Amino acid sequence: MILMDIYDTVSWWTLVIAVQVVIGSVYFLWQKKPKEPEDKLTNQKLREWKPLPLVERTFEVEEPILIDNIGDNVLNVGATSFLCLDKEPSIVENSIKSLHKYGVGSCGPRGFYGTIDVHLELEERLAKFLQVEETCVYSYGFSTVASAIPAYAKKGDIIFADEKVWFAIQKGIDAARSTVRYFKHNDMNDLERLLEEAAAKKELNPKRRAFLIAEAIYFNSGKMCPLRKLVELARRFKLRIILDESLTIGVIGKHGRGLTEHLNVPRDEIDLIVGSLEHSFATIGGFCAGTHFIVEHQRLSGLGYCFSASLPPMLTQAAISALDIIEEKPAIISELDENSKKLNKALVNLKHYTFSGDELSPVKHIYLKNSELPDRLKNSYLRNITNYCLENGVAMAVATYLRDTEVNCPEPSIRLASTRKLNDTNIAQICTLLDEAYEKVGPK
Ligand SMILES: *[C@@H]1O[C@H](CO)[C@@H](O)[C@H](O)[C@H]1NC(C)=O
Ligand SMILES: *[C@@H]1O[C@H](CO)[C@@H](O)[C@H](O)[C@H]1NC(C)=O
Repeated sequence: MILMDIYDTVSWWTLVIAVQVVIGSVYFLWQKKPKEPEDKLTNQKLREWKPLPLVERTFEVEEPILIDNIGDNVLNVGATSFLCLDKEPSIVENSIKSLHKYGVGSCGPRGFYGTIDVHLELEERLAKFLQVEETCVYSYGFSTVASAIPAYAKKGDIIFADEKVWFAIQKGIDAARSTVRYFKHNDMNDLERLLEEAAAKKELNPKRRAFLIAEAIYFNSGKMCPLRKLVELARRFKLRIILDESLTIGVIGKHGRGLTEHLNVPRDEIDLIVGSLEHSFATIGGFCAGTHFIVEHQRLSGLGYCFSASLPPMLTQAAISALDIIEEKPAIISELDENSKKLNKALVNLKHYTFSGDELSPVKHIYLKNSELPDRLKNSYLRNITNYCLENGVAMAVATYLRDTEVNCPEPSIRLASTRKLNDTNIAQICTLLDEAYEKVGPK
């Protein structure tokens, strides 16, 4: 009796399952119906098929202003030669001597017959100047930080970066292919929040490297980063710091050693310092500074270092001679800093503009005040304003961005560069002219 009951139950279940299998098979076969022949890539289709364009769009590049056309009696606050070393006779003379000795180009990367004694000398001098174990010199400022980042950060790692970092850092981050978290510009609470979130989600763990990337003074805003707080957070969450000091080396600190000197942060708290020789050093190239262990790694892993012809010897000599001057006369640094401060005091009184920039920043961004205009139109007005200023004796530059490509494209602005040789008359002239230009060609 009991056996029968079980048998009945089992067969009932068997039936249910069998029906399901049948329904399932029919559904499956119906799904797998062969595709319509018209979906096939026929020869006809191949002939008509247009591949996607190689690049999605072309960039509008504005006509550059030619320096030749500026003339001698124009005040130049567009170029970033803050210490005015670009026409310094001793630098010019030494570079010409170097030209006679070595010729123009080095014709090879550093590791392939492109190393000349001046390269080793510059690296040694920079290391001494910055009080670090070692530096390595790149031949192009942009590619320095853009190569240094992916030399360490790889796929699977995580990077925390300020949202306003300049384009070269953005490109370096792209090349690293790491996970990226951008924090709000100079907002340490936002950074802390992101770090805590990442720690809670175990995104920060001993199996991946984590990096913090910031600029000492931001090229795109002129603001100074709160370095002490960054260091504190980096140590708490075990991040490595890469600091771009391009606008601060030779600019701030008693001896011009940059933000670490200015804020008295020990140099070894920063894992890698990156700098450019294209601003205060008035030549070409860039460098990375840190411990031997860290810098040495780039000599085989920094793509811009390995695969670019080395810096032409005469330009390397120019950097050495610039360093001579900075070391001999640190007073030029305080002259520059005085002018940067004066510029801030004067810019506050502009009628039609607001501005951004730390008082010690050699770069100030001037924005149109109360303007609801779209960015393209603002840019056009600013171009016309700078053209008007140039016609009236002051050359300045509109900050140029790849508007659709930048991670967080800044508002259009005029980028003023403070220099050591500005005097009070110059500063007054800049401000008067800016307001006058606005009234003549600015938005009505
Ligand atoms: C800027 O100047 C050009 C040439 O004079 C003019 O065509 C253009 O409309 C001006 N831009 C604005 C926004 O007024
Ligand atoms: C300021 O510098 C300009 C040159 O840029 C010069 O013509 C002028 O005389 C200087 N003014 C003062 C007060 O030194």
